[in-house]
Amino acid sequence: YVIGVDLGTSAVKTVLVDRSGRVAYEVSEAYPLIQPKAGYSEQKPEDWVDATIVSLKKLLEISAVQPSEIEGVSFSGQMHGLVLVNQEGKVLRNAILWNDTRTTPQCRRIEETLGGQLLSIARNRALEGFTLPKILWVQEHEPELLDQASLFLLPKDYVRYRLTGDYAMDYSDAAGTLLLDVAGKTWSEDILNAFQLKSSLCPKLVESFDEVGTLLPEIADQTGLLASTKVFAGGADNACGAIGAGILSEGQTMCSIGTSGVVLSYEERKNLDFEGKVHFFNHGEKDAFYIMGVTLAAGYSLTWFKDTFAPQQSFDHLLAGVDQIPPGSGGLLFTPYIVGERTPHPDANIRGSFIGMDAGHKLPHFARAVMEGITFSLRESIDILRDAGKKVDEVISIGGGTKNETWLQMQADIFNAAIVKLESEQGPAMGAAMLAAYGCGWFASLQDCSAAFIRPAKRYEPNAEAAAAYEKLFSLYQQVYPQTS
Ligand code: XUL
Repeated sequence: YVIGVDLGTSAVKTVLVDRSGRVAYEVSEAYPLIQPKAGYSEQKPEDWVDATIVSLKKLLEISAVQPSEIEGVSFSGQMHGLVLVNQEGKVLRNAILWNDTRTTPQCRRIEETLGGQLLSIARNRALEGFTLPKILWVQEHEPELLDQASLFLLPKDYVRYRLTGDYAMDYSDAAGTLLLDVAGKTWSEDILNAFQLKSSLCPKLVESFDEVGTLLPEIADQTGLLASTKVFAGGADNACGAIGAGILSEGQTMCSIGTSGVVLSYEERKNLDFEGKVHFFNHGEKDAFYIMGVTLAAGYSLTWFKDTFAPQQSFDHLLAGVDQIPPGSGGLLFTPYIVGERTPHPDANIRGSFIGMDAGHKLPHFARAVMEGITFSLRESIDILRDAGKKVDEVISIGGGTKNETWLQMQADIFNAAIVKLESEQGPAMGAAMLAAYGCGWFASLQDCSAAFIRPAKRYEPNAEAAAAYEKLFSLYQQVYPQTS
């Protein structure tokens, strides 16, 4: 067996996976978000460590598997969060998370200071969520803490440090800091120097599948695992999500509809220039990258709609009628910018809209329009990939968006690509387990592991008539942003 640990924003999930890729058991342990002011989002790193230990202990207890049968553990983690530790490895302040938005002035400072260097080295725009703006916020507001810091870590790297006693950061997570030379796979001295940051703040870089140690004896005691259990570095949750969906070679693209929505595509060409329109990060696979577009309120738009307009109904009930309504929702168009947007419009202030309301529209028209609007937004990310010469003929669909057949067919029609639903999906936790399985030598490559572990269940081909109708509606959809921003 191997264990995948997914350190999420609301909970840690651990999965025990056998040699056939079957998830034998899983356990989740929640921890709180700390929001002391509007826009602030923090967590206590100690809460992550406690929850991870409890979750591993419970996993062992419920599975009744012998600890000696568990060969390795690896990690997936929420990206970008800043953890500062001192010389003794003590945490200096709460972690500032990816969804904390206090750093707009620091983002402007980064753009002004670095100019074109930011995109040529870090390959991404300065967004509030990323780590460098958070380091600069501490530099400006809590300078004494930055002086005391000997290292910065990302969330799962801190937890792994506490489990093994060793510091490391993998390329896929380091890519989300804005301090990494993404193509060159080194910390960027140019960026560090531009902000008077010591290079010693940056941890050692490793591959996601590298073995980085074994468990500390006290952790073995607390979890029930053997101290000799191998620990592999792991990766960013989006990289692990890609691995867990089998996105491991050129031409493979996935669409994940959860609270937010992600279109993610595998990429080996390290010099491809997307002008910062999409994220460009290192993959968990060696010397590979992925491109990612994000719709901030994907599933969240539908949840918001249900909670606001149909709070008594279940999702199944709300969506029961949507398949009876033809593409276009009877002239109703929704844009999902209810919490701002990332791709293709990096705009925190834009807000959503319903356009074309008719007295004949009923609740299912609105529900369908919301689903279409979310999917149009994701199509914009797919178009950025296509414009850069990528073929997107097939998309693996994961997340809550796969629970509804109408939505899966809608994705095929709006993306004009075949949609593949997987037999079982465990998201980033499975990607983490696969990194451990490959690291343990179960397979010659991550691709072999994916071939053994990940099985397609159903395929949805685009319907020519619906795809043509959506093509027209999509161009209307694209006109809404410039008119409402
Ligand atoms: C990626 C991002 C989120 C977090 C969520 O840029 O901010 O997907 O990784 O955990």
